[in-house]
Amino acid sequence: MGELRVSESEKSLVDTYGRVHRDMRVSLTDRCSLRCNYCMPADFADWIPGDHLLTTDEMMLVLDVATEMGIDQVRLTGGEPLLRPDVVDVVRRIYALPHAPKISLTSNGLRLPKLAKELADAGLERVNISLDTLDPQRFKEMTHRDRFHDVIAGIEAAKEAGLLPVKVNAVLLRGVNDDEAVPLLKHALANDWKLRFIEQMPLDAGGLWARPKMVTADEIMEMLSAEFELTPVPARGSAPAEEFYVDGGPATVGIIASVSRPFCAACDRLRLTADGQFRNCLFAQDETDVRALLRDSSLSEDEIRAGIASTLAKVTKAKLPGHGINDPTFIQPARPMSAIGG
Ligand code: 5AD
Ligand code: SF4
Repeated sequence: MGELRVSESEKSLVDTYGRVHRDMRVSLTDRCSLRCNYCMPADFADWIPGDHLLTTDEMMLVLDVATEMGIDQVRLTGGEPLLRPDVVDVVRRIYALPHAPKISLTSNGLRLPKLAKELADAGLERVNISLDTLDPQRFKEMTHRDRFHDVIAGIEAAKEAGLLPVKVNAVLLRGVNDDEAVPLLKHALANDWKLRFIEQMPLDAGGLWARPKMVTADEIMEMLSAEFELTPVPARGSAPAEEFYVDGGPATVGIIASVSRPFCAACDRLRLTADGQFRNCLFAQDETDVRALLRDSSLSEDEIRAGIASTLAKVTKAKLPGHGINDPTFIQPARPMSAIGG
């Protein structure tokens, strides 16, 4: 191994602004069983070709190197990560890595009734589940699928499997579900969900996002404050959500104000797409391919490992200070959230 091992200088994934990267978001597939209107048009068809998807062995090699370099949290995302047929095996293998990270998952919940227990047994610690409405009919309109009750069953299954706290993510859209801030929080409090509102971001495949239409964190605060007393929870660290105690706590609600109150200065996240591209930001214009390296049969495994390490170090060093959504020159990334990994 000798000189081909990960060098000391590359071990810590620090960028030129001093941000230490510990969290890797890994997209397991770009497919999804829902069509949330702020994410994918109902007729979306621009899928990643099957032979571009990393195999589980390839993904494990990347994660082995990344965890050796200081990544200590892996969040599995999609599309819908539970559509990957071997997702339980993926979790088990990440959990068995020499520098095993904490493993969490972002899901639409539909397959959790079937998989929550197996995933927890395999080493999964926590899940975030997306749910934007409490009205089954509205759910059907927003996602183009009549699956509201399956999501609720998924949330319950996650609780029963001990994947706690169960975090529920909600995106409010003006004129669609922006009357549900208070009902969602009431329901979350009654059912022990840790609710977080996410500002709608310019990442949809349909290009529908428009700043004036976005429901802002300030508006959400105002709606919630009419009903609840919210006091800030200190010590946010690198977490994207601003947390507030509800009526004195201990229950909290989170607001992820990616657009109106960016938290880029504390960002510790890197991303690996399902087709083997590294990204240093959700909103980055560039991706850096690692798939070709993984498939280069002229290289030894040690050479591939060294290549992964230097690619990841380079991607990290190239990270910009902020996402620039609020700049007039901002350009939405070419690929949608479902391909980048949320
Ligand atoms: N803006 C904000 N949140 C989004 N999500 C998906 N697309 C967007 C968007 N354009 C959310 C999902 C899920 C998480 C991964 O991100 O609802 O909760
Ligand atoms: Fe699927 Fe998530 Fe996109 Fe909804 S937001 S369509 S659940 S990937």
